[in-house]
Amino acid sequence: MSGFSLREYTGHWAARVDGALEKRLSDLATTPARLADAMRYAILGGGKRVRPILCVAAFQAAGGEGEKVLPVAGALELIHGYSLVHDDLPAMDDDDLRRGRPTCHRQFDEATAILVGDGLQTLAFSWLADADLPEGVRLKLVAELAAASGPWGMVGGQMLDMEAQTTAGVGGGPHTLDHLRTIHAHKTGALLTASVRMGALAAGADTGALTALTEFGRAIGLAFQVADDVLDETADTATLGKTAGKDSAQGKLTYPALMGLDGARDFARRLKTDAIDRLAPFGERAEPLAALAEYIVERDR
Ligand code: IPE
Ligand code: IPE
Ligand code: MG
Ligand code: MG
Ligand code: MG
Repeated sequence: MSGFSLREYTGHWAARVDGALEKRLSDLATTPARLADAMRYAILGGGKRVRPILCVAAFQAAGGEGEKVLPVAGALELIHGYSLVHDDLPAMDDDDLRRGRPTCHRQFDEATAILVGDGLQTLAFSWLADADLPEGVRLKLVAELAAASGPWGMVGGQMLDMEAQTTAGVGGGPHTLDHLRTIHAHKTGALLTASVRMGALAAGADTGALTALTEFGRAIGLAFQVADDVLDETADTATLGKTAGKDSAQGKLTYPALMGLDGARDFARRLKTDAIDRLAPFGERAEPLAALAEYIVERDR
Protein backbone atom coordinates (compact mmCIF):
# COMPACT_ATOMS: atom_id res chain seq x y z
CA MET A 1 0.00 0.00 0.00
CA SER A 2 1.28 3.45 -0.79
CA GLY A 3 1.16 6.12 1.88
CA PHE A 4 -0.43 8.70 -0.44
CA SER A 5 -3.01 10.93 1.25
CA LEU A 6 -5.18 13.11 -0.99
CA ARG A 7 -6.14 15.20 2.03
CA GLU A 8 -2.49 16.06 2.74
CA TYR A 9 -1.74 16.58 -0.93
CA THR A 10 -4.64 18.97 -1.53
CA GLY A 11 -3.98 20.71 1.80
CA HIS A 12 -0.40 21.42 0.76
CA TRP A 13 -1.10 22.49 -2.83
CA ALA A 14 -4.27 24.46 -2.07
CA ALA A 15 -2.24 26.51 0.41
CA ARG A 16 0.49 27.13 -2.20
CA VAL A 17 -2.11 28.12 -4.81
CA ASP A 18 -3.90 30.38 -2.32
CA GLY A 19 -0.60 32.07 -1.50
CA ALA A 20 0.06 32.73 -5.20
CA LEU A 21 -3.50 34.03 -5.73
CA GLU A 22 -3.25 36.34 -2.72
CA LYS A 23 0.02 37.76 -3.98
CA ARG A 24 -1.28 38.29 -7.52
CA LEU A 25 -4.48 39.91 -6.24
CA SER A 26 -2.62 42.19 -3.82
CA ASP A 27 -0.80 43.66 -6.80
CA LEU A 28 -3.74 45.78 -7.99
CA ALA A 29 -2.49 49.12 -6.68
CA THR A 30 -3.79 51.27 -9.55
CA THR A 31 -7.10 49.41 -9.77
CA PRO A 32 -10.16 51.24 -8.34
CA ALA A 33 -10.47 50.02 -4.75
CA ARG A 34 -14.04 48.72 -5.11
CA LEU A 35 -13.10 46.61 -8.13
CA ALA A 36 -9.96 45.26 -6.45
CA ASP A 37 -11.93 44.41 -3.30
CA ALA A 38 -14.61 42.63 -5.32
CA MET A 39 -12.03 40.66 -7.33
CA ARG A 40 -10.40 39.51 -4.11
CA TYR A 41 -13.81 38.68 -2.63
CA ALA A 42 -14.64 36.48 -5.62
CA ILE A 43 -11.42 34.48 -5.49
CA LEU A 44 -10.09 34.35 -1.93
CA GLY A 45 -11.73 32.65 1.04
CA GLY A 46 -13.43 29.60 -0.44
CA GLY A 47 -13.58 27.08 -3.24
CA LYS A 48 -12.23 23.58 -3.51
CA ARG A 49 -9.42 24.60 -5.91
CA VAL A 50 -10.00 21.45 -8.00
CA ARG A 51 -8.71 22.97 -11.26
CA PRO A 52 -5.37 24.25 -9.91
CA ILE A 53 -4.74 21.02 -8.02
CA LEU A 54 -5.49 18.96 -11.13
CA CYS A 55 -3.03 21.16 -13.00
CA VAL A 56 -0.29 20.55 -10.44
CA ALA A 57 -1.02 16.80 -10.38
CA ALA A 58 -0.85 16.58 -14.19
CA PHE A 59 2.41 18.58 -14.17
CA GLN A 60 3.88 16.01 -11.79
CA ALA A 61 2.46 13.02 -13.70
CA ALA A 62 4.23 14.38 -16.81
CA GLY A 63 7.53 14.60 -14.92
CA GLY A 64 7.41 18.22 -13.75
CA GLU A 65 9.01 19.18 -10.44
CA GLY A 66 8.98 22.24 -8.22
CA GLU A 67 6.57 25.19 -8.23
CA LYS A 68 6.94 26.80 -11.67
CA VAL A 69 3.46 25.53 -12.44
CA LEU A 70 1.83 27.73 -9.76
CA PRO A 71 1.03 30.71 -12.06
CA VAL A 72 -0.60 28.28 -14.49
CA ALA A 73 -2.66 26.74 -11.70
CA GLY A 74 -3.57 30.22 -10.42
CA ALA A 75 -4.62 31.45 -13.86
CA LEU A 76 -7.03 28.52 -14.14
CA GLU A 77 -8.63 29.44 -10.81
CA LEU A 78 -9.01 33.08 -11.92
CA ILE A 79 -10.90 31.98 -15.05
CA HIS A 80 -13.02 29.59 -12.99
CA GLY A 81 -13.78 32.34 -10.44
CA TYR A 82 -14.82 34.71 -13.24
CA SER A 83 -17.10 32.02 -14.70
CA LEU A 84 -18.80 31.59 -11.31
CA VAL A 85 -19.33 35.34 -10.81
CA HIS A 86 -20.99 35.63 -14.23
CA ASP A 87 -22.89 32.30 -13.85
CA ASP A 88 -24.51 33.68 -10.68
CA LEU A 89 -25.69 36.98 -12.23
CA PRO A 90 -29.45 37.64 -12.32
CA ALA A 91 -29.43 37.37 -16.12
CA MET A 92 -27.93 33.90 -15.86
CA ASP A 93 -28.56 31.48 -12.95
CA ASP A 94 -29.62 34.28 -10.57
CA ASP A 95 -27.98 32.93 -7.42
CA ASP A 96 -27.61 34.61 -4.02
CA LEU A 97 -25.14 32.23 -2.41
CA ARG A 98 -21.68 31.08 -3.54
CA ARG A 99 -18.97 29.39 -1.50
CA GLY A 100 -21.10 29.92 1.60
CA ARG A 101 -21.30 33.70 1.17
CA PRO A 102 -23.42 36.20 -0.75
CA THR A 103 -22.64 36.07 -4.48
CA CYS A 104 -20.42 38.83 -5.83
CA HIS A 105 -23.31 40.87 -7.27
CA ARG A 106 -25.18 40.55 -3.94
CA GLN A 107 -22.20 41.63 -1.87
CA PHE A 108 -21.28 44.46 -4.27
CA ASP A 109 -23.60 45.19 -7.21
CA GLU A 110 -24.28 43.85 -10.67
CA ALA A 111 -22.11 46.25 -12.64
CA THR A 112 -19.19 45.56 -10.31
CA ALA A 113 -19.70 41.79 -10.67
CA ILE A 114 -19.64 42.04 -14.46
CA LEU A 115 -16.41 44.02 -14.29
CA VAL A 116 -14.94 41.55 -11.75
CA GLY A 117 -15.38 38.77 -14.31
CA ASP A 118 -13.81 40.85 -17.05
CA GLY A 119 -10.90 41.80 -14.78
CA LEU A 120 -10.25 38.26 -13.55
CA GLN A 121 -10.22 36.99 -17.09
CA THR A 122 -7.57 39.41 -18.33
CA LEU A 123 -5.54 39.00 -15.14
CA ALA A 124 -5.41 35.26 -15.83
CA PHE A 125 -3.88 35.77 -19.26
CA SER A 126 -1.38 38.35 -18.06
CA TRP A 127 -0.26 35.92 -15.36
CA LEU A 128 0.41 33.22 -17.94
CA ALA A 129 2.27 35.66 -20.15
CA ASP A 130 4.56 36.60 -17.22
CA ALA A 131 5.16 33.03 -15.96
CA ASP A 132 8.71 31.79 -15.49
CA LEU A 133 8.42 29.24 -18.31
CA PRO A 134 9.92 29.10 -21.83
CA GLU A 135 8.31 31.51 -24.29
CA GLY A 136 7.01 28.73 -26.56
CA VAL A 137 5.35 27.01 -23.61
CA ARG A 138 3.72 30.26 -22.46
CA LEU A 139 2.29 30.81 -25.92
CA LYS A 140 0.81 27.30 -25.94
CA LEU A 141 -0.67 27.87 -22.49
CA VAL A 142 -2.32 31.14 -23.53
CA ALA A 143 -3.82 29.48 -26.62
CA GLU A 144 -5.01 26.52 -24.56
CA LEU A 145 -6.71 28.64 -21.91
CA ALA A 146 -8.35 30.87 -24.52
CA ALA A 147 -9.72 27.87 -26.41
CA ALA A 148 -11.06 26.20 -23.27
CA SER A 149 -12.65 29.28 -21.73
CA GLY A 150 -13.85 31.15 -24.81
CA PRO A 151 -16.71 30.78 -27.28
CA TRP A 152 -15.36 27.35 -28.32
CA GLY A 153 -15.34 26.20 -24.68
CA MET A 154 -16.86 27.41 -21.42
CA VAL A 155 -18.60 30.50 -22.80
CA GLY A 156 -20.10 28.49 -25.66
CA GLY A 157 -21.30 25.84 -23.20
CA GLN A 158 -22.89 28.49 -20.98
CA MET A 159 -24.80 29.76 -24.02
CA LEU A 160 -26.12 26.27 -24.76
CA ASP A 161 -27.02 25.83 -21.06
CA MET A 162 -29.04 29.05 -21.08
CA GLU A 163 -30.75 28.17 -24.37
CA ALA A 164 -31.79 24.74 -23.09
CA GLN A 165 -33.30 26.14 -19.86
CA THR A 166 -37.06 25.84 -20.16
CA THR A 167 -37.95 28.48 -17.55
CA ALA A 168 -35.85 31.06 -19.39
CA GLY A 169 -38.59 30.86 -21.99
CA VAL A 170 -36.27 29.39 -24.61
CA GLY A 171 -35.88 25.63 -24.02
CA GLY A 172 -33.84 25.43 -27.21
CA GLY A 173 -31.79 22.52 -28.45
CA PRO A 174 -32.85 18.88 -28.35
CA HIS A 175 -33.34 17.53 -24.84
CA THR A 176 -31.26 14.46 -25.57
CA LEU A 177 -28.26 12.86 -23.85
CA ASP A 178 -26.09 13.77 -26.83
CA HIS A 179 -26.93 17.44 -26.56
CA LEU A 180 -26.53 17.42 -22.78
CA ARG A 181 -23.09 15.89 -23.17
CA THR A 182 -22.17 18.73 -25.53
CA ILE A 183 -23.38 21.33 -23.02
CA HIS A 184 -21.51 19.83 -20.08
CA ALA A 185 -18.33 19.05 -22.02
CA HIS A 186 -18.16 22.73 -22.98
CA LYS A 187 -19.44 24.67 -19.97
CA THR A 188 -17.42 22.66 -17.42
CA GLY A 189 -15.43 19.89 -19.11
CA ALA A 190 -13.33 22.17 -21.30
CA LEU A 191 -11.70 24.08 -18.41
CA LEU A 192 -11.08 20.88 -16.43
CA THR A 193 -9.52 19.22 -19.48
CA ALA A 194 -7.40 22.34 -19.97
CA SER A 195 -6.32 22.19 -16.32
CA VAL A 196 -4.83 18.76 -16.93
CA ARG A 197 -3.39 19.63 -20.36
CA MET A 198 -1.84 22.88 -19.16
CA GLY A 199 -0.10 21.12 -16.27
CA ALA A 200 1.28 18.59 -18.76
CA LEU A 201 2.35 21.32 -21.22
CA ALA A 202 4.14 23.22 -18.45
CA ALA A 203 6.12 20.03 -17.76
CA GLY A 204 7.02 19.67 -21.45
CA ALA A 205 5.00 16.43 -21.87
CA ASP A 206 5.51 14.49 -25.12
CA THR A 207 2.61 13.82 -27.51
CA GLY A 208 1.84 10.38 -26.10
CA ALA A 209 1.61 11.61 -22.53
CA LEU A 210 -0.44 14.65 -23.58
CA THR A 211 -2.92 12.48 -25.49
CA ALA A 212 -3.44 10.11 -22.56
CA LEU A 213 -3.84 13.00 -20.09
CA THR A 214 -6.26 14.75 -22.45
CA GLU A 215 -8.49 11.67 -22.49
CA PHE A 216 -8.26 11.50 -18.70
CA GLY A 217 -9.24 15.18 -18.52
CA ARG A 218 -12.22 14.79 -20.85
CA ALA A 219 -13.63 11.93 -18.80
CA ILE A 220 -13.22 13.59 -15.40
CA GLY A 221 -14.30 16.96 -16.82
CA LEU A 222 -17.66 15.54 -17.83
CA ALA A 223 -17.92 13.48 -14.63
CA PHE A 224 -17.38 16.66 -12.60
CA GLN A 225 -20.52 18.30 -13.97
CA VAL A 226 -22.56 15.08 -13.70
CA ALA A 227 -21.59 14.99 -10.00
CA ASP A 228 -22.48 18.70 -9.66
CA ASP A 229 -25.94 17.98 -11.13
CA VAL A 230 -26.43 15.06 -8.71
CA LEU A 231 -25.32 17.14 -5.70
CA ASP A 232 -27.72 19.93 -6.71
CA GLU A 233 -30.53 17.42 -6.05
CA THR A 234 -29.13 15.44 -3.14
CA ALA A 235 -27.00 17.73 -0.96
CA ASP A 236 -28.13 20.59 1.26
CA THR A 237 -27.41 24.29 0.86
CA ALA A 238 -25.20 24.49 3.96
CA THR A 239 -22.92 21.69 2.74
CA LEU A 240 -22.79 22.95 -0.84
CA GLY A 241 -22.30 26.62 0.05
CA LYS A 242 -24.70 27.37 -2.85
CA THR A 243 -28.45 27.02 -3.12
CA ALA A 244 -29.48 23.37 -3.52
CA GLY A 245 -32.33 22.25 -5.75
CA LYS A 246 -31.97 25.09 -8.22
CA ASP A 247 -31.58 23.08 -11.41
CA SER A 248 -35.03 21.53 -11.40
CA ALA A 249 -36.59 24.79 -10.16
CA GLN A 250 -35.06 26.57 -13.15
CA GLY A 251 -35.78 23.84 -15.70
CA LYS A 252 -32.12 23.10 -16.40
CA LEU A 253 -31.17 20.22 -18.65
CA THR A 254 -29.19 17.90 -16.33
CA TYR A 255 -28.12 14.26 -16.08
CA PRO A 256 -30.52 13.44 -13.21
CA ALA A 257 -33.34 15.01 -15.27
CA LEU A 258 -32.59 12.71 -18.22
CA MET A 259 -31.21 9.58 -16.49
CA GLY A 260 -32.53 9.70 -12.93
CA LEU A 261 -30.23 10.00 -9.91
CA ASP A 262 -29.00 6.39 -9.98
CA GLY A 263 -28.39 6.51 -13.72
CA ALA A 264 -26.41 9.72 -13.37
CA ARG A 265 -24.32 8.33 -10.50
CA ASP A 266 -23.55 5.17 -12.50
CA PHE A 267 -22.58 7.24 -15.52
CA ALA A 268 -20.20 9.36 -13.43
CA ARG A 269 -18.58 6.23 -12.02
CA ARG A 270 -18.11 4.74 -15.50
CA LEU A 271 -16.43 7.96 -16.60
CA LYS A 272 -14.17 7.79 -13.55
CA THR A 273 -13.09 4.24 -14.42
CA ASP A 274 -12.40 5.26 -18.03
CA ALA A 275 -10.36 8.19 -16.75
CA ILE A 276 -8.26 6.12 -14.34
CA ASP A 277 -7.56 3.53 -17.08
CA ARG A 278 -5.77 6.28 -19.04
CA LEU A 279 -3.26 6.74 -16.24
CA ALA A 280 -1.65 3.28 -16.51
CA PRO A 281 1.44 4.49 -18.45
CA PHE A 282 2.31 7.00 -15.70
CA GLY A 283 2.58 4.53 -12.81
CA GLU A 284 3.01 6.00 -9.33
CA ARG A 285 3.50 9.50 -10.70
CA ALA A 286 -0.23 9.59 -11.47
CA GLU A 287 -1.38 8.59 -7.99
CA PRO A 288 -2.63 12.12 -7.18
CA LEU A 289 -4.58 12.28 -10.48
CA ALA A 290 -6.23 8.92 -9.78
CA ALA A 291 -7.20 10.04 -6.28
CA LEU A 292 -8.59 13.30 -7.68
CA ALA A 293 -10.74 11.37 -10.18
CA GLU A 294 -12.16 9.36 -7.29
CA TYR A 295 -12.81 12.55 -5.31
CA ILE A 296 -14.49 14.35 -8.22
CA VAL A 297 -17.14 11.65 -8.49
CA GLU A 298 -17.57 10.71 -4.81
CA ARG A 299 -17.36 14.18 -3.23
CA ASP A 300 -20.15 15.52 -1.03
CA ARG A 301 -19.92 19.20 -2.02
C1 IPE B 1 -18.78 24.81 -9.58
O1 IPE B 1 -17.44 24.44 -9.58
C2 IPE B 1 -19.20 25.18 -10.95
C3 IPE B 1 -19.12 24.08 -11.90
C4 IPE B 1 -18.40 24.14 -12.97
C5 IPE B 1 -19.90 22.88 -11.67
P1 IPE B 1 -16.73 23.93 -8.24
O2 IPE B 1 -17.57 22.85 -7.62
O3 IPE B 1 -15.32 23.58 -8.55
O4 IPE B 1 -16.79 25.22 -7.31
P2 IPE B 1 -15.77 25.75 -6.20
O5 IPE B 1 -14.60 26.32 -6.93
O6 IPE B 1 -15.37 24.59 -5.33
O7 IPE B 1 -16.54 26.79 -5.46
C1 IPE C 1 -21.63 26.21 -14.04
O1 IPE C 1 -22.56 25.19 -13.98
C2 IPE C 1 -20.68 26.10 -15.10
C3 IPE C 1 -19.84 27.30 -15.17
C4 IPE C 1 -19.23 27.60 -16.27
C5 IPE C 1 -19.64 28.23 -14.05
P1 IPE C 1 -23.64 25.38 -12.83
O2 IPE C 1 -24.48 26.57 -13.07
O3 IPE C 1 -24.29 24.06 -12.59
O4 IPE C 1 -22.68 25.68 -11.59
P2 IPE C 1 -23.20 25.97 -10.11
O5 IPE C 1 -24.03 24.78 -9.71
O6 IPE C 1 -23.97 27.25 -10.16
O7 IPE C 1 -21.92 26.06 -9.31
MG1 MG D 1 -25.08 27.68 -14.72
MG1 MG E 1 -25.10 28.08 -11.63
MG1 MG F 1 -24.75 23.22 -10.72
